[in-house]
Formats: sequence, C-alpha cells, structure tokens
Amino acid sequence: MTESLFNRLGGVEGITQIANDVVDNHAANKLIGVRFADVDLPKVKHAAATFFVTATGGSSDAYQGKDMVSAHRGMNISPAEFMAVLDDALLALDKNDVGQREQEEVLYALYGLRSQIVGV
Ligand code: HEM
Repeated sequence: MTESLFNRLGGVEGITQIANDVVDNHAANKLIGVRFADVDLPKVKHAAATFFVTATGGSSDAYQGKDMVSAHRGMNISPAEFMAVLDDALLALDKNDVGQREQEEVLYALYGLRSQIVGV
C-alpha cells in the first residue's frame, strides 16, 4: 500500500515547513498579499499546517479551526485569487523538494476546495 500523503510530505515537520512557506508566499504575493496585511500570520501558519496535517492523513484532531466555508465567508474571493493560492502552494512544494506525484496530489486536493472558498 502507498504510504499516506502525510508521511510522504515529511510528517508534522515537513508539512509545517511547507505551510509556513505557503503563507510567507501569500504575504509577498502581489495579487493576494493585501488579504494578509492585517492578519495574525503565526496564527494563520499554525492553522494552515494543522489543516494540512489532518487533510493528508495525519492526526485527525490536529486542525481545530473553522471549516473552509466559515473561514472564507464574506471575503468575496475571486477565481484569480484562488489560483494565486495554488501558485503559492506549488512554489512552496518545489522549494521543499516535494516529488511530482505528491505535488499533484496536494494540488488536486486544494483544487477540490474551490467551491467552498471562491465567492462564498
Ligand atoms: C485551497 C485553498 C485554501 C485553503 C486550504 C485555505 C485554508 C485556510 C485556513 C485553514 C484558514 C484558517 C481558518 C481558521 O483560522 O479557523 C484560512 C484563513 C484565511 N484564508 Fe484561506 N485557504 C485557502 C484559500 C484562500 C484564498 C484564495 C484566500 C484569499 C486570497 C484566502 C484568505 C484567507 C485569509 C485572509 C484568512 C485569515 C482570516 C483571519 O484569520 O482573519 N484563503 N484559510
């Protein structure tokens, strides 16, 4: 059997590093940086890391945050902004030497959340 995506991404340590890089990329991204200007970045990094631990097959109670619709409701997030988040995720995966198969799985999982985030 294939190992869980959680293990293949390096467990809590690997995923935390990737999540930190994704959020740093958001803050520096011309298209979406403004969305993160007034948010508590360490808190968002923690939420992103634990969300991914739980979503990839790590501890099921790692993530204690809101569901995706509640977290993004009323923000009026556009399709282009959503793509910018995927771009930032891909950059972070590359930076952390994640293999192509794992990159594809992460991108596919993120894309699947689109309807819970764009325009909700
Ligand atoms: C698949 C894509 C995405 C995932 C998995 C995701 C995940 C998350 C998570 C887990 C949180 C924390 C929720 C909590 O604190 O309970 C969050 C918050 C946030 N998200 Fe997303 N998000 C995505 C896309 C986006 C997009 C496209 C934008 C806008 C460009 C965005 C903007 C934000 C902002 C600004 C917050 C912080 C809200 C605050 O703490 O005040 N997200 N997101």
